[in-house]
Parts: sequence; C-alpha cells; structure tokens
Amino acid sequence: MTTQNSNKALDGQVASASPPAPDKFRHAAAVDTDASAAYPQSAEIFSHNRRFIPGGVVSVNRAVQPEIVFIKGQGAHIWDADGNQYIDYHAAFAPHFLGHNDPYVTDAVISVLGKGASLYGSGTTELEGQLAELICRHIPAVESVQFLNTGSEATYQAIRLARAVTQRDHIIVMQGGYNGWHDDVSCNLMTPLDVIGPRVSPGEYPYIPISAGIPREHQKLVHPVNFNDLRSVEYVCQKYSTAALITEPILQNLGIIKPEVGYLDGLRRLADQHGFILIFDEVKTGFRHGIAGYAKIAGVMPDLAVYGKALANGYPIAALGGKKELMDWFVHPEPSKRVLLAGTYNAHPVPTAAAIATIERLLMNDGEVYRHVEFLGQKMQEGLERIINNLSFEAVVARQGSAFCIYFMDHCPKDWHDLATCHDFGLDQQLRGSLIGCGTYFFPAATKQCSISFAHTEEDIEVTLEQIQNQLSEMLR
Ligand SMILES: Cc1ncc(COP(=O)(O)O)c(C=O)c1O
Repeated sequence: MTTQNSNKALDGQVASASPPAPDKFRHAAAVDTDASAAYPQSAEIFSHNRRFIPGGVVSVNRAVQPEIVFIKGQGAHIWDADGNQYIDYHAAFAPHFLGHNDPYVTDAVISVLGKGASLYGSGTTELEGQLAELICRHIPAVESVQFLNTGSEATYQAIRLARAVTQRDHIIVMQGGYNGWHDDVSCNLMTPLDVIGPRVSPGEYPYIPISAGIPREHQKLVHPVNFNDLRSVEYVCQKYSTAALITEPILQNLGIIKPEVGYLDGLRRLADQHGFILIFDEVKTGFRHGIAGYAKIAGVMPDLAVYGKALANGYPIAALGGKKELMDWFVHPEPSKRVLLAGTYNAHPVPTAAAIATIERLLMNDGEVYRHVEFLGQKMQEGLERIINNLSFEAVVARQGSAFCIYFMDHCPKDWHDLATCHDFGLDQQLRGSLIGCGTYFFPAATKQCSISFAHTEEDIEVTLEQIQNQLSEMLR
C-alpha cells in the first residue's frame, strides 16, 4: 500500500523571515488527544509554569503535543507526572547514550561533589586537564581542545575562530542542518520548499532565519547549500571569500541523512583548495557513533570539530577541538589576532567529571557499549524492515549504529529537498503520536532521530516493534 504524502508537518515549519517562527521543530499537533484529560497532572504543571515562563517551556524545541511533564528517568525508561512509564527513544535530543542516570556517571558526579570540588574561576583544574587529555588521545582530529557549556557556544566559537584565522567573513551552512541558536546558523532547517524554491545546483539558497532579531547584514554572510552537493560548495567559494563550512557529518536533525560516498572527502578537498576551515559539527554524531566520532568512521579529518550531547551523557558540557595551530589562536601572542573564549561555567567540575566518566565507560571492555547498541540497532532495523515488508507500505529505515529514523518514502533521503518532496510527514507524525499512547516515546515531531542507549534491552526493542506493528496496521487499515 502506498500512503498519501501530506507534508503536514511542513505547514507549520519556519516559513519565512516575516514573521519568523522561533521553533525549529514547529509542527502540526501530534495527536488529537485532549492532553489535559489524558495527562491531568502534566496539564496542571504546564498551566502553572505558563504563568511564569513564556510558553511554559525553557527551550522552544520542547514545545510539542501531547504536553507531558516527565519527572524521572532511569536507564532506557522515563516516567511522567501522571504515573505513565515509557521506553525512551528521544533521549532528550540524544545525549543519554548510556541511558538516563547511568550509575557509573552518577557515581563520578557524587564523588566529585563529595570531595568538595567547586567552580573556582581562576586558573586551571586537574579535572579539565584529564578530560582534555582523554579527548586528544582518542580523537585523531583533536590535537588541542577547549570546553564550553553547550553545542551552540562551541559552534559559535568554531566559526569565530575560522573567521579570525582566515581573515574572511563568509560561511557555508547546510540546508536542513542544525548547528545551534546563534545568528550564523539559526537558519534554513525545515524550510518549506515554496519559500526556498526548487533544488539549485550549483547555487545557494536564501538565508531563511528561524529566529527574529538576526541583523540582515549578518544574514548576507551565510550561504546555505544542500547536503551532498559539492558543486554548490564550489559555487559559493568562487563567489565569496569563504572562511568556513560547518556541517553535521550526518544530518541528524532531519533523522539520519548520510553523506554519499566521496562527499565528506570532497569537502576536505574543497577546503584545501579554497582555503576555508572545515568544521564538523559532531554534537550529535560524536561519541554516539564511536569514541572518535563520525570523522573517524568516514576517514576524513576536519580542521575543527565540535562535540556535546553524548560526551557527558546528559550533563551540560561541549568541546571544540582541532588542529593545534588553529586552536592556538585562542591564546595568540598578538592581542588583535587573539580570539576571545571565555565563560564563567566552562568546565564546571560536575559536567567535567561526568564527561570523564562517560568516556571511561565508553572505553571499557573493549567497546562493549558500541557492540551492544549496534546489536540493538540492527535488531530494530531488521524488525522495522520486516514490518514494512509484511504490511507492504512505502517506507525505509535509515540507521547509524544506535540512531535511526523511519522515512515514509521509497528511498533514504539525500538532502532536505528530497525529504521534503517524498516523505509522508503526516503518517510519521501520526505514528509517533500513537506510540506515545502505548508507552513508547518517539519525539512527536516528524523526522526526528530515534536514539537507542546502552541501557536498552532486547526486550525493549521487541516491545517497541510489536507496538509499531500494531499501530501501523491500525493506521494503514
Ligand atoms: C548537530 C547539533 N549542533 C549543535 C547543537 C546545539 O547544541 P546545544 O543545544 O547544546 O546548544 C545541536 C542541538 O540539538 C545539534 O543537534
């Protein structure tokens, strides 16, 4: 059976500069359920919080339907305020790679606090040195590293550093990529095709902000092109003096859109040819797809790389690392060339201890964590493909290790235009909504990545597959 392509989720997506929508994941309501009836305690907490917090949430990307307030997470499971338990595949947008409140990481945090560690704000600490050494030792692309609190801070600094080093201003970003909330990159995520127009190659797309307040002059410095499109990168480089290209090595804010063979190598070649800094945003791919991130898997060395999320299994820390000759611009002897990197909370002892423990855990038993999630990921993929086959509808499963996405189309997408044209967003959204009602939490926004953790079990995967089979059979009837 072929399902109808409704592109429902695109209707509410960030549509244009005027008025710009602040929500990168804005989408149509996931389910028709009256949330206050289904989740009364959650509704009460939301209603209280809305009185004091705009919209009631502290990150607009968390504003989804149904509105559920979670109160506990352990391993692969989360619980809501109304007593419902869920198998969690959202993992808070993917940091919980070991599972919620992993005991090894929790012990390290309790231990560091027990020893009286605090934030001193003067000089260095042994902890940050330990973490830096671990990262430099295990990631070939990182010779030297700095720490920040969030992925957005790290991508901001990477771009600033690239501009300082190259003395150029223009940057290239990916249509359909997400690299944080700051002015350079708050643009062109799930842009409706009637706003950016059909695929152009070679060429570039207009900068379409996903936030108000980004100066128009600044927007002119940013050039969105499609993923997997080397000709357009070349086109931009010939037109503008390009400081950097920033990309996720797999577009994991649109599910799992993988680089085609030769694409990342091609970026490396173009960077060398045109003199721009190649920045891999490994905030989602880093540590989840291997200790050295996706760059190692692809065999392509970026100039700079950014990590976050799985680095500390849910604690707030990010890293920016790369070639020492570039990183040294943070302490350039000439003040006019020195790049300002500062932050009151950088390498706070709690997330720093969590990151050290996470990396130690990932290295234990010869990569047991990676073997386990690969096994479960494969089981999930095979199970989903069986269901797709049995029910004979149009869908494919894209997966990298523990991260996967079901696309309701006949092939894995190669870029945003492909996805926006072919994927059945309505069916995707409907499935996610109905699974929540069964106790499986896929984030209720079409095309969002699902994440398996080390804490998931074979039984979790089997339960989820059975629920998907039941829900899809019902929906496709
Ligand atoms: C690939 C990527 N880069 C950067 C960011 C921004 O990280 P943060 O939310 O920690 O600022 C995100 C967040 O989802 C991301 O997925």
